[in-house]
Amino acid sequence: MLPQLDQLKSEALAALENLSDETSLENFRVAYLGKKGSLTALSAGMRDVPPDQKKEVGAKLNEVREAITSGLTARQLALQSAKDAAAVQGIDVTLPGRPGFGTGSIHPLTTIRDLAVRTLRRMGFVLADGPEIETEWHCFDALNTPADHPARNESDTFYLADGRLLRTHTSSVQIRTMETVKQLPVRIIAPGAAYRRDEIDATHLSVFNQLEGLFVSENVSLGDLKGTLEFFFREIFGPQTVVRFRPHFFPFTEPSFEIDVKLEAKGKESRWIEIAGCGMVDPAVFAAVSKTRGDNLFDPEKVTGFAFGLGLDRLAMILHGITDIRHLIENDVRFLGQFA
Ligand code: DAH
Repeated sequence: MLPQLDQLKSEALAALENLSDETSLENFRVAYLGKKGSLTALSAGMRDVPPDQKKEVGAKLNEVREAITSGLTARQLALQSAKDAAAVQGIDVTLPGRPGFGTGSIHPLTTIRDLAVRTLRRMGFVLADGPEIETEWHCFDALNTPADHPARNESDTFYLADGRLLRTHTSSVQIRTMETVKQLPVRIIAPGAAYRRDEIDATHLSVFNQLEGLFVSENVSLGDLKGTLEFFFREIFGPQTVVRFRPHFFPFTEPSFEIDVKLEAKGKESRWIEIAGCGMVDPAVFAAVSKTRGDNLFDPEKVTGFAFGLGLDRLAMILHGITDIRHLIENDVRFLGQFA
């Protein structure tokens, strides 16, 4: 049997040399290694080999199967790499790719948020955060907003089944921060989403973006509020910008103001645009926070502070002359490409 095996091996390896396509290689595999292949047939002869020769013949069988199998694999690989080489012939793989899409750009809302945050950080404000799913306490009660205030109405606010709500403003971060800080002063800003059950139109979305600010210490004055925000809006709109504080009402500040900036457009009459709400933190807010904290860090007799809140979407619209707020969320590249 040994000479037969040697012969089969040399015959198979010689045959392999002439095979140059996948089908003939597969036929080869079936002819030699398949169930009815010649090597398989020879292996069956093992049972007639006398016991004293079994070891030698067995080893030979393995050697031949090994040689044929690896010969076949080598041939398959050679064939594949020849095919690959043919496929990339004439292609310079070191050439840089051709851009299929334009390069992306920063969303105008992100740009204005970053500018606002950077400007306020220069004045010592640090970033703060709070959850978008809020309790009534943090969104309303602690902010001195009575139970019958229209903002608390089901028709204005998204309530969850468990009584919590989607925050209607970022002012809740004022409470979250004051409830947890260890010392004064508190000087924070909190950009983030706010939710209202508004009818969606050119100036309203049910999800929009605000930026909240809070400064609490001893002896914080209305002068500090005015100086800080005038400086801020001149940084945003330019150094000539005229800012005015118009008395208003918010439950959580006293006194309260709305801030208008005077916008001058070439060839047009200048106009006042309402841009933010602000005021001196109402002592009732400090009292509410003190109740949760159980200490007197925010003793209403000792501390004072100012707060402000502005709409970032609105700010972006004014700065860029965007007339429909929905553009900001539609992700239309024809719109966004203008800010690249
Ligand atoms: N939370 C107010 C709103 O959403 C905006 C605001 C007004 C925030 C006055 C303040 C503030 O911090 O002092 O309309």
